[in-house]
Amino acid sequence: MSSLRLTDVEKIYPGGAHAVRGCSLEIADGEFLVLVGPSGCGKSTLLRMIAGLEEISSGEIRIGDRVVNDVAPKDRDIAMVFQNYALYPHKSARANLEFALKLRGIPKDERDRRIAEAARQLGIEELLDRRPGQMSGGQQQRVALGRALVRNPAAFLFDEPLSNLDAKLRHKTRGELKELHRRVATTSVYVTHDQEEAMTLGDRVVVMKDGLIQQVGPPLEVYRKPSNLFVATVIGAPAMNLVEGRITQDGGSFEGPDGLTLPLGSDRSGVEPGRRVTLGVRPQHLEPSADGMELAVRICEPLGDETDVMLDGPGGLDFTARLRLDEVPAAGLKMRLAPKPGTLHLFDTESGVRLG
Ligand SMILES: Nc1ncnc2c1ncn2[C@@H]1O[C@H](COP(=O)(O)OP(=O)(O)OP(=O)(O)O)[C@@H](O)[C@H]1O
Ligand SMILES: [Mg+2]
Repeated sequence: MSSLRLTDVEKIYPGGAHAVRGCSLEIADGEFLVLVGPSGCGKSTLLRMIAGLEEISSGEIRIGDRVVNDVAPKDRDIAMVFQNYALYPHKSARANLEFALKLRGIPKDERDRRIAEAARQLGIEELLDRRPGQMSGGQQQRVALGRALVRNPAAFLFDEPLSNLDAKLRHKTRGELKELHRRVATTSVYVTHDQEEAMTLGDRVVVMKDGLIQQVGPPLEVYRKPSNLFVATVIGAPAMNLVEGRITQDGGSFEGPDGLTLPLGSDRSGVEPGRRVTLGVRPQHLEPSADGMELAVRICEPLGDETDVMLDGPGGLDFTARLRLDEVPAAGLKMRLAPKPGTLHLFDTESGVRLG
């Protein structure tokens, strides 16, 4: 096991794509760190640079105390798990697990012991004699995990390992992965574009955009205090409602289009009066209130106990609210909704940076 440290890591591909920009991160020994962000933001590039599968253009990568910039992938003591499993199709699961151990000259008894242990931990004992083509996607991904596990590496790197699985299996495997990490506590870096996966798996999450780190923190901190508008919309589902406007002259309220006014509450008094801001409120934080905004139901998505309600507001604004309702409201119904006290987010409209 090992810590990882990235210092000012850059990647410019030969064609000129600037995939990762000045990235610095410290990943503690035993930590589970999740990189999250939209397609093309540089997640896989960053992971592949840690693995040594991609050269870094500048900066430094350390695994434990060792600078590994010029260390070959096979000598970095890191195991990577990919989206497409990348198993040898003609080898049995056992042979897939055994291959890397053989390469490293690990004796037969020790190989057998490690394979049996990994198979037990992952519940794949009865699959060991099957080839990948004779297994489901979920089973193949377990074998791929097993192959990483038997090596007992300094760190695991995961690149969207669950994205080929259907929703139910993805959820189940996610839980198992978390459980596995709790037991083996190997330093892990996990890439996903799924914010829910990031929130539920990570000790900390790293939100990336266009090759730049936007925020690093524990999931709930990033959810509760997104550092900018980008993070606010990426983390949390449905996405946060955003309204452009300004702070009133008395500093106590937010004024949006068409006379939309929302009291800010005492905790927001720090933002200067008259300032142009973007107000954010999560769908989970809107609730029925007699003096709330008047909104008209456009469409509803019942989820069971809760319903996602899309609404039209003043000034052509859209809102989404996640509400506990006994019945699904009809399109056109008028509802009055207000943010729960203390749940508002304010951002500078120009820079997108969080205020307060
Ligand atoms: N081998 C390559 N040569 C040139 N450009 C590349 C190469 N690989 C990736 N890129 C570019 O680098 C940027 C980051 O790509 P990367 O694969 O790291 O993104 P990602 O965040 O993993 O996206 P996704 O969620 O789609 O997997 C993109 O603009 C991509 O087009
Ligand atoms: Mg990728």
